[in-house]
Amino acid sequence: MNTSTTINNNPVGFFDSGVGGLTVYSKFRNKLPNENCLYFGDTKHLPYGNKTKEELISYARFILDFFQEQNVKAVIIACNTSSSAAYDSIKDSYGFKIYPIIQSCAKILSELPIKRLGIFATPATIKSGVYESEIKKYNPDMLIYPQSCHNWVDIVESNGQNLAENIETVKADLDMMLENKPDKIVLGCTHYPYLLDVLSKFTPKDRFIDPAEYFVDYIVNDLKSKNLLNSNTQNGYEKMYVSANPNQFKIASKMFYDVKELPELV
Ligand code: DGL
Repeated sequence: MNTSTTINNNPVGFFDSGVGGLTVYSKFRNKLPNENCLYFGDTKHLPYGNKTKEELISYARFILDFFQEQNVKAVIIACNTSSSAAYDSIKDSYGFKIYPIIQSCAKILSELPIKRLGIFATPATIKSGVYESEIKKYNPDMLIYPQSCHNWVDIVESNGQNLAENIETVKADLDMMLENKPDKIVLGCTHYPYLLDVLSKFTPKDRFIDPAEYFVDYIVNDLKSKNLLNSNTQNGYEKMYVSANPNQFKIASKMFYDVKELPELV
């Protein structure tokens, strides 16, 4: 049987469809370097944003079963699309804590001192309406402008942020969003911070919110309050897995995280 110390030293599992979740993972590693971590990029099923709810639930179950076999103490859904489509169906099926990005950040977003909030997210996240419903639970008066971005994830995964035609695509989507005059715009897909340099060519960088910052603070406080932090005094280990194309994952990840070893194919 696990003692409390061994549970504390069990790894934390992170997952996303690809390199997007590294925008969360990198911040977590900076805050809690002693934690042991696993990262799963479900690159075989990229992009998640055009999958059905049923497909997204089955991918999430596969990954959580995999993490369960590795004795994780918690799982972080570093993916808005999976949080919106799968979290409700899987949240009570496992014996470890599961943290979904949207539901964990909604309260803090609802408390921003602004009136008009834009949300950029994948088609599946926007279709779910979960960003609006979660924020409106806390602040029914906030005006929310959801907009899906059709191939931003492919741009990031192919490392094509600087190609002229991709910059045009991003600019056209941004122009449409700016017609709503949002005070702030949430990057509601963990891949989108990779496009922040492109976006901020056209409107100030501080107009964008990367919820990863709030998300990691939320997780750290929650793990602390549940006495689940790792008791190691040295840096924790990390192990990365992908379901396809480990080399491309390593190339595309560069902007947010230096993936040292080629991820293992699962
Ligand atoms: N990075 C993910 C998200 O936050 C998934 C994007 C995708 O694969 O479409 O939604």
